Amino acid sequence: ARQRTLAILKPDCVRKGLIGEVLRRIQDAGFTVKAMKMTRLTKQTAGGFYAVHKERPFFDELTDFMSSGPCVPVVLEKENAIEDFRALIGATNPAEAAEGTVRKEFADSVGENIVHGSDSVENGKIEAAYFFAESELVANES
Ligand code: CMP
Repeated sequence: ARQRTLAILKPDCVRKGLIGEVLRRIQDAGFTVKAMKMTRLTKQTAGGFYAVHKERPFFDELTDFMSSGPCVPVVLEKENAIEDFRALIGATNPAEAAEGTVRKEFADSVGENIVHGSDSVENGKIEAAYFFAESELVANES
């Protein structure tokens, strides 16, 4: 089925000048961009986005990093988008990511891993709504 996923090009992606490169790969893989913006999260808004991880030992590091500079949230649409996007970016830890994936090629560590992708259709909806109003999702067809 056609699905949506919420991606975030993280602050390390922006700092490294890789926005274009990563979007190129995303579009080459057949994803349609439905919404996109550049924004800078505060530690608090990063914490809201990652609320599910708030008891994890890395939560403080994660929210510091995600608020360390601008990032680019993007809503993407494609058949089987959730699974296909996770395959495109590779494992969370770049050391474990498959050859040719975005994280394998560009990420420095499990924390600074270039890009986020939703882990389920349900979370994709929640995460997209965190950044975008329904009215900001463009219609791509007439
Ligand atoms: P993401 O897909 O954005 O979802 C949660 C993030 O937590 C994950 O990518 C990682 O960047 C981060 N994360 C997971 N494990 C660790 C860890 N051990 N140390 C720091 N960050 C982590």
